[in-house]
Order: sequence, then structure tokens, then C-alpha cells
Amino acid sequence: MSPFLVTRTLPEDATGADLRADVLHGLTRTPKDLPPKWFYDARGSELFEEITRLPEYYPTRAEREILVARAAEIAAVTRARTLVELGSGSSEKTRHLIAALLPGLESYVPVDVSESALRGAAAALTAEHPALQVHALIADFTRGLALPGTPGPRLVAFLGGTLGNLLPEQRKAFLRSVRALLAPGDALLLGTDLVKDERTLVAAYDDAAGVTAAFNKNVLSVLARELGADVDPDDFEHVAVWDRENEWIEMRLRARGPLTVKIRELDLAVTFEAGEEMRTEVSAKFRQEGVRGELAAAGMELAHWWTDEAGRFALSLATAV
Ligand code: SAH
Ligand code: TRP
Repeated sequence: MSPFLVTRTLPEDATGADLRADVLHGLTRTPKDLPPKWFYDARGSELFEEITRLPEYYPTRAEREILVARAAEIAAVTRARTLVELGSGSSEKTRHLIAALLPGLESYVPVDVSESALRGAAAALTAEHPALQVHALIADFTRGLALPGTPGPRLVAFLGGTLGNLLPEQRKAFLRSVRALLAPGDALLLGTDLVKDERTLVAAYDDAAGVTAAFNKNVLSVLARELGADVDPDDFEHVAVWDRENEWIEMRLRARGPLTVKIRELDLAVTFEAGEEMRTEVSAKFRQEGVRGELAAAGMELAHWWTDEAGRFALSLATAV
């Protein structure tokens, strides 16, 4: 069996300086917010996997349906020898793509901030496909990407609707940095959740079993563990609202009463009024014209647009112009 490689481009203590800066910035402004990448410690990655299996959370099933239906076509069009996946998590859906790209596919480069998710996925894939070179990168995809020198053509996959977790300005910068990774003949495979009725959307982010609530509150456990915050997750309530104007779901944590959270490592005391909400994540929903426009603004052209039967989710294949 070929062993897989793991490269860290984040400092060991990334959850030191970076987290400190984000928390200091986010919790001393009005309204308060926290950036979403801090959800994904080992526990957060597990909770996300649980979310993907919830009856209310349709995006994973819808995207898998498209991948299963279109994997052969994607392989024929891209003939990729390297598959790079940003925010790969468990790489669970990616298996369909890898199976279709083999035997031409030589190298798989999953990129994620979650080391536990990367190691689990890399071990499983290496066991299943001994000839495939798996080179996992522990990296922040919003910080510019240095990829290993693997053979082209390259297919860069960004699945799960994770693009929607970036704010519009961040999306712009991110898509430009993805464009910079593409040589002629390379392609981007982008998964985006689509605008639909509010009930379906809100239920997907506020499930009956409370898994999404636990996931959202997990960011508080990260603050407690990493920064010595004396926060009790039960002091907050999970909120998911549809923002009609921005066309995104907004996840928030709402203080159940007035409280003060002391953050030892920052020497900071943060006060919340009763009912005060802090934003923890947005999940933007897209339309075809919006995706086409954002790709074009970053120097890419929408070449294929596939949706599931029910039209809930889209996979786009884009090439560099
Ligand atoms: N692609 C998988 C997982 C989506 S969840 C799927 O479709 O099911 C989002 C993934 O992106 C998580 O694994 C999380 O750890 C990772 N992630 C979030 N922000 C990131 C960042 N800034 N840099 C790298 N990975 C990030
Ligand atoms: N990319 C996923 C999405 O936007 C991430 C996600 C799913 C998420 N459920 C969540 C993020 C709940 C925060 C809270 O669908």
C-alpha cells in the first residue's frame, strides 16, 4: 500500500495567533461575529458528518446524486490526472469522482483545516486505491494556496456549497486565487446550493434532532478549550434565519440572558445583552446567473451546469479564460 503524505502549511499553533486575532476582532465589534472555520475541530468535523446524514439536510444527497449521474462525463471532459479538493472533509462524495477519473488519475490532493478529517479520508482512500498518490494539505484555502507539483491536467473541486460560507468580498478574492491555480486545460468543479423556499432552507439549518445546534455551539467549546473562555454552551441558543435580501441562511448564537464571557488568553471580558445575537456563519444560496457572473469576474467561464432531478443543488464545471 502506498503511504499518503500530509503537509502542513498552517503553523502548529494556527489555532493560536489566528484564532486570537479573529476572536478579538469579532467579539469587540457590533454586531459580534465569529468566522466559520473555527467550527471544524475534530468534534466539529464529526458533527458536520452527522449533519450530512440528517433528513432535513438535503444538499449532500442532492450533490451526491449529481456526482453519481455526471462523474463519467466529468472524467471524459477533464481527463484529470490530478484532483485537488478544497475543504475536502471526509472526501465521502469525492469517491464517486475518483472512481470515474481512474485509472488516468494519478494524484489526489485534499486540502482542509481539519487534520483529523484529512487523515481519516487519506487513510481510507489509500487503502481503497493503492496506486493513487494521496497528498493531503493542512491549509487555509482563504490564505493563498501552494499546491504540490503534481501532473496536469488538474481538476480543482470545491464541493458541499462551501463557497456560500464565504462573504461576497471573500468569495471574489477566493475565486481569483482558484483561477490562479488553473493552467490551460485545467478546470474547476464547483458545488453550490440553490435558492428555494424558505421552509426547506431553514429546516436544513435547524434540524429537529438538534445536530446543527450542537455544531453551531461547538465553536464555543473551541473558545473554551483554546482560549480559556468561561462560556457555557447552554447560555446560548442556536438561530437560523433566511436573509431574503442577501439570499443566504444566517446562523447565529443568541444569548439566553445577559452574560459576561471572560476570555482568559485574551485578557478580555465580553458582555452580551439578553437576546443579543452573534453571527457565526452564512450559507449563501445561488442562481445560475449569479454563479456564471462570479466565475466570469474571476476569469473563468461556466462550461457545464448540472442539477439534481429536483433542482435543489448545482454542480458547475468552469474553465479558465
Ligand atoms: N466537502 C465536504 C465538506 C464540507 S464542510 C462535503 O461536501 O461534505 C466544509 C469543509 O471545509 C470542512 O471540512 C472544513 O474543515 C473545511 N474548511 C472550512 N473553512 C476552511 C478554510 N478556510 N480552509 C480550509 N478548509 C476549510
Ligand atoms: N457548507 C455547509 C453549508 O453551508 C456548511 C454547513 C452546513 C453549516 N450546516 C451548517 C455551517 C450549520 C454552520 C452551521 O450547507
